[in-house]
Amino acid sequence: MRFSANQRLCLPTRRDVLIAAGLGMLSPWLARGVQADPLPAFPSGFLWGTSTSALQIEGATTEDGRGASIWESFAGRPGAIADGTTPAIACDHYHRWADDVALMKSAGFGAYRFSIAWPRVQPTGRGPVNSRGLDFYDRLVDALLEAGIRPMPCLYHWDLPQALQDQGGWMNRDMAGWFADYAGIAAGRLGDRVKDWFALNEPSVVAIFGHGYGEHAPGLNGGRTAALAASHHQNLAQGAALRALRAESADFRLGTVLSLQPVVPVSDSEADRAATTRWDALWNRVALDGVMRGQLPDVLADDLRPWVKPGDLELIRFPLDRLGVNYYSQLHIQHQPGRLFDAGFGPLPPGPVTAMGWPIEPEGLGRVLGELRTLYGNPEVMVTENGVACDDLPGPDGQIDDRQRIAYLDGHLRVVAAALAAGSRVTGYLAWSLLDNWEWQCGYARRFGLVHVDYPSQRRTPKASFAWLKAAAAGKA
Ligand code: FCB
Repeated sequence: MRFSANQRLCLPTRRDVLIAAGLGMLSPWLARGVQADPLPAFPSGFLWGTSTSALQIEGATTEDGRGASIWESFAGRPGAIADGTTPAIACDHYHRWADDVALMKSAGFGAYRFSIAWPRVQPTGRGPVNSRGLDFYDRLVDALLEAGIRPMPCLYHWDLPQALQDQGGWMNRDMAGWFADYAGIAAGRLGDRVKDWFALNEPSVVAIFGHGYGEHAPGLNGGRTAALAASHHQNLAQGAALRALRAESADFRLGTVLSLQPVVPVSDSEADRAATTRWDALWNRVALDGVMRGQLPDVLADDLRPWVKPGDLELIRFPLDRLGVNYYSQLHIQHQPGRLFDAGFGPLPPGPVTAMGWPIEPEGLGRVLGELRTLYGNPEVMVTENGVACDDLPGPDGQIDDRQRIAYLDGHLRVVAAALAAGSRVTGYLAWSLLDNWEWQCGYARRFGLVHVDYPSQRRTPKASFAWLKAAAAGKA
């Protein structure tokens, strides 16, 4: 039986997954490559590009005064990272950023979402600012603008300063003020050139896997209490930071990034359907209803009550200029007593899976965009992550013919085009990821890049998908 790997435990290898799944070979869907019909036309001004995050690509974790983050601590725990690696070097982007910007420029991409490492800016998370850390982003932003690429930084992509974790991290309500201070510092330094900002990346993943299950940093196995506290405090911090950014400039385009994954019960049983509603609330609605409506999902309201103080929901609600949506797959949920909220990841329906063991379901992205359009007032949306891990090995000629990634991107872009035709306000698509990188608890074993990285030499080799997205951006795919 195949179980959804969305719990983000790292599965052994793609081949093992396929064999365990009784497939044992590349699914025809994955192998078929791009569809014969050209992609529909996208509106002019639609932004194309890629996303990355600081910890996954930068390396240089002790350079120029950077403080430690919770992910280095977590990676030091025996068994926490599948291949036993650390993010100490990663893609060495801290030193190779100019080459990486040149790559994006060569594709003609118009936007780039990266993240700013809080421990570079404030090594102890609050108080003293490390200007050498900010210098790095200063150089990066200048190079991007020079290359005609819009910088779209995200302030928090999971690399919390360890010093703040030592004060409770996301379990501590004071995080809201500290995060807002940091946002103000980053905007104060870069805001003359950076106009597009995202606050958080996927707070539900941080809450559930970092605090509920301990499969991500900080590795807290605190069950529902910890997951809900971390959710609520991230919501608060997001509201506070967005207000701090707004105070810096009325011209900023402000957003945040959520992982929105439609939930599907594995059966029609009442137990599975109820588990699915709870999981939907925890995964999608705490964050989405919080920022969009200033509401708590009904099924979690009682559980959240101990953390919610008067005025919190007003702070959490914020008129976003754009919502960042990360989408990879749907979640197939089953009643599983003993798991968080007695809900767990159930058996997957038949169909192709990726090297992460995630099902390939472009239609789920359509469901997300459709709901935002019909139930949430049709906000401006940007797809800020979408992509796939594959076994990308260079062929004898050194090239990487990743037609399975092309098929994945193509399939999802067609769904975006259909949502646009139905009236959704999607203004950009950023593929995850520019480079193969350090995929959290999977280490270097999972390759999501449009550009292959040979880690020992740090050589970058654009894969076939890179050329394909370049063509798509030019309206020629
Ligand atoms: C997302 C994360 C990103 C990467 C992709 C595969 O949930 O935001 O950093 O790990 O998944």
